[in-house]
Amino acid sequence: MTTTSTPPSHATTAAEGARVAPGPRGTPGFGSLVPYRRDPAQFLLRLQRDHGQLSRMRMGPYTVHLATSPDAVRRVLVENQANYVRGKLYEQFRLVMGTGLLTSDGRAWRGHRRAVQPAFARTAIEAIVPNVVEATSEMLARWEAAERAGEPVDLVAEMMRLTLITLSRSLFGYDISARTALMKDVVDDSIEVMFPHGYVSEMLPSWLPTSRNRLIRKNRRIYDEVVADIRANHAATGEGVLVRLAEEARDPETGEPWSDTEIRDELLTIYLAGHETTATAACWTLHSVATHRWVREELEGELANVLGGSTPDVGELATLDYTRMVIEESLRLYPPIWLYPRDAVEDDTLDGYHIPGGSSVLLSPLVSHRNPEVWENPEEFDPSRFTAEAVKGRPRMAYFPFGGGPRMCIGNLMATLELKIILAMVCQRFRLEPVPGELLRYGDSLISLRPMSAMWVRLRSREGADHG
Ligand code: HEM
Repeated sequence: MTTTSTPPSHATTAAEGARVAPGPRGTPGFGSLVPYRRDPAQFLLRLQRDHGQLSRMRMGPYTVHLATSPDAVRRVLVENQANYVRGKLYEQFRLVMGTGLLTSDGRAWRGHRRAVQPAFARTAIEAIVPNVVEATSEMLARWEAAERAGEPVDLVAEMMRLTLITLSRSLFGYDISARTALMKDVVDDSIEVMFPHGYVSEMLPSWLPTSRNRLIRKNRRIYDEVVADIRANHAATGEGVLVRLAEEARDPETGEPWSDTEIRDELLTIYLAGHETTATAACWTLHSVATHRWVREELEGELANVLGGSTPDVGELATLDYTRMVIEESLRLYPPIWLYPRDAVEDDTLDGYHIPGGSSVLLSPLVSHRNPEVWENPEEFDPSRFTAEAVKGRPRMAYFPFGGGPRMCIGNLMATLELKIILAMVCQRFRLEPVPGELLRYGDSLISLRPMSAMWVRLRSREGADHG
């Protein structure tokens, strides 16, 4: 039996003039948990299609909204951001990362953000370019051997490895190459744990010896070991700008240094927030280039003009305009962080609809970036959406792959620079051909929009391909 679990769409509420947003019918007690669990991304896309840019549903005991219009996104992330906190749906993140930048609010968050910000300033990020170039060159040398042997490569494994190595070298001053395979498994497990699937096991207390809780504890021990190694390496060598900032940080009010737990949680947060997201973006970008011939040709033309076969430096990277547009379009269609929740502290109004204090608001770059009210032919891959002129013609928060307002991604500059280097270096050297028959779906119960398990491609050397 089904019932209407949200009030009819035009019911008014105690808040003056504000209406209750329209929403789906749900089942008693569960609300929309079942269809959400089956395929979160498709479910949320359907909500936008069927109920518009602001919808309301029940998820078990919670009242949840999906807000997709640029105005509503701007109000949540920028104008009234103090009213929207991380809230209950971030509990899952805390189980894995503890309390770091991503999971904290208020004074604790502000102090930490200020302390680590210098590692993400433009000059600091530009200084990592040689690290990224070197790690990408090492990868391409391995790819040359694969190409000679006629073997395909798995972009997911390759990009995860590459971004882990560059992040570790650049921010932690630490060589993690020997542990990349182990870390990939641990990160995969962590992502499964962090994403709210709506399972009963997620609602049980963390001290119960369930298999999920045991897995969380086992992975936590591995993370603890890696962080301890990173700190020991810093103590011995002085390397690692982020480790230095964390070790030197002081609480602005008490003057106390950060505790071991604070340092661990922050390093772990940046480690987890930083590499998997960038790897996912690199996979989708390379895949999009491989499957859109005209995009590949224009990109190759720009790379030949600007770089002429050499490795890129900071000045050249800044002039790779088409390369930037390809990356931005890839982040539009496949935003790695495709869904994130907030809880409203006080009542608010979004798009004329009442948002009760204590209810949740979901923001989804994936759904907003495919909002037909804003984007023409939203499913099409078209980098020309990101010419300066086209960007000017759109509302500001129509596009937010890195969030917005004070909680905007701290690593956004690092990620875009890294993506440019990877795309430029790979596409100068190879053409990629997706292996037919691979499983490629998006949004399948993942926190990050990772391609399913693997993304196999065949490599064709540009030297051969250009004449072939
Ligand atoms: C393409 C790559 C990336 C994407 C798409 C991405 C996306 C995002 C998004 C959407 C948020 C906001 C989440 C929210 O407001 O709830 C965020 C926050 C964050 N990101 Fe990224 N990110 C990327 C790369 C990175 C990198 C390279 C780092 C660090 C090395 C990083 C570290 C963080 C941190 C620490 C936060 C929390 C910031 C705060 O609340 O103060 N991210 N990211």
